[in-house]
Amino acid sequence: MSIPQEFISELKMRSDIVDVISSYVKLKRSGRNYLGLCPFHGEKTPSFTVSPDKGFFYCFGCHVGGDVIGFIKQAENLDYVEAIKFLAQRAGMTVPENAADNGMSRLRTRLYEANRAAARFFNKQLYTEEGREGLDYLRGRRLSDSTITHFGLGYAPKSRFALVNHLKSLGFTKAEMIQANLANETRNGNAIDRFTDRVMFPIIDLRGNVIAFGGRTMMKDFKPKYLNTSDTPVFNKGNNLFALNFAKNEANGTLILVEGYMDVIALHQAGFKNAVAGLGTALTPEQANVIKHYCNEVILCYDSDNAGQMAVSRAIQIIRPTGLDIRVLTVPNGKDPDEFMKTYGEQGPARFRMLIEKSGNDVDFRLNKLLGSYNTELTDQRVNFLSEAAKLIAGLDSSIERDVYISKLAMEQHVSKDAIKEQVSRIIKKNSSNASKREFRELKKQMNAESSRISRENHSTFGSAKAEESLIALLMNNVDIAVSVFKSVPPELFADAFNKRVYETMKANSEQGFDFTLTDISGSFTDEENSRIAQILASHASESSPKQAADDYISKMRENAERVTPDQVAAADEDELRRMIENMKKKKS
Ligand code: CTP
Ligand code: MN
Repeated sequence: MSIPQEFISELKMRSDIVDVISSYVKLKRSGRNYLGLCPFHGEKTPSFTVSPDKGFFYCFGCHVGGDVIGFIKQAENLDYVEAIKFLAQRAGMTVPENAADNGMSRLRTRLYEANRAAARFFNKQLYTEEGREGLDYLRGRRLSDSTITHFGLGYAPKSRFALVNHLKSLGFTKAEMIQANLANETRNGNAIDRFTDRVMFPIIDLRGNVIAFGGRTMMKDFKPKYLNTSDTPVFNKGNNLFALNFAKNEANGTLILVEGYMDVIALHQAGFKNAVAGLGTALTPEQANVIKHYCNEVILCYDSDNAGQMAVSRAIQIIRPTGLDIRVLTVPNGKDPDEFMKTYGEQGPARFRMLIEKSGNDVDFRLNKLLGSYNTELTDQRVNFLSEAAKLIAGLDSSIERDVYISKLAMEQHVSKDAIKEQVSRIIKKNSSNASKREFRELKKQMNAESSRISRENHSTFGSAKAEESLIALLMNNVDIAVSVFKSVPPELFADAFNKRVYETMKANSEQGFDFTLTDISGSFTDEENSRIAQILASHASESSPKQAADDYISKMRENAERVTPDQVAAADEDELRRMIENMKKKKS
């Protein structure tokens, strides 16, 4: 890794892990550590811990862990060098030149540059003879010139080489254009424009990089209506949202999630600058987690057609586990927000604000949807509806919320509140006993797996691996002891290959005069490996007499290393056998 250790040390000092993580996760102090809801998997009770003293985080639920750099890598979807740049910027430091000179990072930088150049090019085309058609189209959709500029909209010319030639003149290679998915490769190996004769919507990430495009045909019924950038080294459609770069600063606690690029743009133009959209796919859990960083309530505003309402149901299922409040807004008469604004012109914003105020929460939405699938005039269907509705209400976490819906349902369906209440309680009881049975079964399964793992592994190496892990945790927390251990204990004493590598890396750092906490060594390990180191740290409390403990662990490791296995005896030649016997004699005396 080409980033100097000195820089990492300084960065580590200026990037307090609790500070950094607090802008993503609400943390509560608990003893020496902090606790919160894990941002990497949906959970309702906190199993995410942060240790400010030792500089690591670890989730006991999903087993993701690491140092402050690893956290940023995963939370912001960055590579190692980018995460360091991100933290450096936050801490007001500059990453030394050429340090960031690593292959992948260089490629990504080039792709960002190519995308930015393409966005400029497309935008400029709008104001040329050939691009006039694109500008007229956008204006025809009631977009103002300042909206067009704000979103950096553009036009991709008809010629199959317009962008390719332009990028070539700027020094971009064919490979870069293809990797950015701005060009396709022809059968005889040439690059041709991916987007032709379309109006272009640039997709911009949270740091302002152009990462992808959506291109809309201007021809009616031409397929595909929208052509989007496929995933590239700088773009993953499931992790990004259109216009979140603008909306995140305007959210004020609420984001409006709509289906299309044009819906977002029309809403922003009408003053609803907190609108965002997915990128032509169903909402993903990753997107829900991203959204969660910028608001505490989402208003779902999808098309009112069948497909749109299905999408709402799916989105609710994805968003509910994040704990965000959800409201569902239905635009009347089967219109999408863009058509709504166009229809109502000047009145649009005020009318849309009314729709927002009227929008119900997701429970209303689900109950209404349920109601729609029964004919409650008929007694047996009415009974079925009520029992399904009770199931839905039983699934709500808050008893207050349950009570509100029980009352509402009782009133609307003219049944007694108590009857529904009783039904709901019965379901809750059944669910919770099912859940605890399930949990018990799961726990038993895990315990069985664990004990069979222990008996499968050679008992001595298992004990030794435990001693090794304990020693690693201890050394990371006790610099003085560590320095003398590094001098006397060779890495070869470690039986477990991974533990050995961790030890070697710490030792190498120390020998060059550097620290060797997780943050100092994390650059040499993958995310999974750093998670494992964090797990080792998280499962070892600080020792009360560390010097004694270190000696104990080391002698345990020595004992195991010297133990001769039957295999070794079988494979040994005469000399080796003699040495083994000598050793055993020495130990006895
Ligand atoms: N979409 C896509 N590919 C398609 C069709 C749609 O990626 N072939 C995505 C686009 O992000 C689009 C969104 O799905 O913005 C919603 O599609 P749709 O409702 O069909 O279009 P509108 O957003 O209403 O677009 P327009 O108003 O321009 O017709
Ligand atoms: Mn539309």
